[in-house]
Amino acid sequence: MFKTIDQHDVSGKKVLVRADLNVPMHDGVVTDATRLERLAPTIIELLDRGALVIITSHFGRPEGERRSEMTMATLCGPLSDVLGGRNVVFADDCIGPEARKVIDSATGSDVVLLENLRFHAGEEDNDAAFASKLASLADIYVNDAFSVAHRAHASTEKLPRLLPSAAGRLMQAELAALNSALGSPERPVGAIVGGAKISTKLDLLENLVKKVDMLAIGGAMANTFLYALGTDVGKSLCEAQMRPTALKILGIADHAGCEIILPSDAVVATELAEGVPSQIVPATAVPSDMMILDIGPGSANALAAMMGDLRTLVWNGPLGAFEVAPFDAGTVMLAKVAADLTRSGFLNTVAGGGDTVAALAAADVVDEFSYVSTAGGAFLEWMEGKELPGVKALD
Ligand code: 3PG
Repeated sequence: MFKTIDQHDVSGKKVLVRADLNVPMHDGVVTDATRLERLAPTIIELLDRGALVIITSHFGRPEGERRSEMTMATLCGPLSDVLGGRNVVFADDCIGPEARKVIDSATGSDVVLLENLRFHAGEEDNDAAFASKLASLADIYVNDAFSVAHRAHASTEKLPRLLPSAAGRLMQAELAALNSALGSPERPVGAIVGGAKISTKLDLLENLVKKVDMLAIGGAMANTFLYALGTDVGKSLCEAQMRPTALKILGIADHAGCEIILPSDAVVATELAEGVPSQIVPATAVPSDMMILDIGPGSANALAAMMGDLRTLVWNGPLGAFEVAPFDAGTVMLAKVAADLTRSGFLNTVAGGGDTVAALAAADVVDEFSYVSTAGGAFLEWMEGKELPGVKALD
C-alpha cells in the first residue's frame, strides 16, 4: 500500500510534487483549469505544514527538445490563481544548477515551478541518471498526477524509488474513487461505454464485461455490435472488420454473466450537421441512406430505469454525437438521471477518460457525479485492468 502525505513530516523539507499541468491552452490562455484546481489542495496543505514545495510536470509532447511554445512559464500565473495568489517562482530548467539556484533562493511561502520535464529525453526514457538529478533537488517526493500514472517515465516510475514517497491528495482521491467503482464496488455495478470505435476500446470492453453486472454500449461503437448481430445500420459509422471481435466480446460477457445492453431504437439523420432533420427509428430499421447519431428515447428510458437498480455506475464516453444538437439528448438525459440518483445517495457514479468530461459538462453534471476523473489515457488503462506504473512505483 502506498503512503500518503499524512505519513511524512514535511516541515522544513523540500517536497517535489509531480503534478499534471498538461492543461488545455489556447493562445497562451488556460481554457480549462480543472486539473490546476484539483491539484491546489495538496500544494496548500504542504505549504501550510511548512514544506518548500517544488512542482514538476510535463506539458505537451516536446520529445526531448526545448520548445518555447511548451514552456511551463506560462503556467505560473494560472497556478498562482488557484493557490490564492501565492508567489510562484519559475526555474528555467527542471534539473541542474538553474533549478537548484531558484530552489535555494525561494522562501517558505514561495512555490517553485520547474521547466517542462519532457525538454529532457531522460524523462520519457525513464532514465536513471535523469531521475537521480531530479531526486537530488528534494527530500520527499509526492505524486499527485494520476493522469500520467500510465506512463513509465523518470518522474513517475524511477523517482519514487529514490526518495521517501507519497501519494498526494488528488492521487489519493482518484484511487479511492476508482477502487469504489471497479475494485470493490457495491453491487449491482453497471457501466456505460460510448465513443466511436471498438478498436480503441477492445481491452477495456473485455475487462469490463468480466467485472460488471451490466454493460450498456452506446455511440458509434454500438453500431458495430448491432451490425455484428446482423442488423443493417445504413450509413452509420461502423467498423465492419471488427465483427468477429464484437461477437467474441458478447461471448465473454455471456460466459461472465454480464448483461450487454444495446440500443433498441436510434435517432437517425442523413448527415451529422446542426439542425439537420432527424427521426426516431427502431435500431433494426435504420433507413439505408441514414446514419445513427444518438440512442433513441426508448433506449434512454430503458437505461434510466435500469440505472435505478444499480448501486455503482462507471461511465466512459458519450452515447451519441453529443457535440451537435439534438444528438446530445440521450447522453444529457442519462447523465442527469445518474446525477439525480447520485444526489439521492443511491448510486456511486465514477466517470472519466477521453471526451467523457466534455459530455458530462454538456449536461452540466460534472460536479454532481460522485467522482469525475480528469485523467484521459490513465483512466482508460485503469478500466482496461492494466497496472499503472506510476501507481505501482508508489507502493
Ligand atoms: C494527459 O493529458 O492525459 C496526461 O498529461 C498524459 O499526457 P501524454 O499522453 O502526453 O503522456
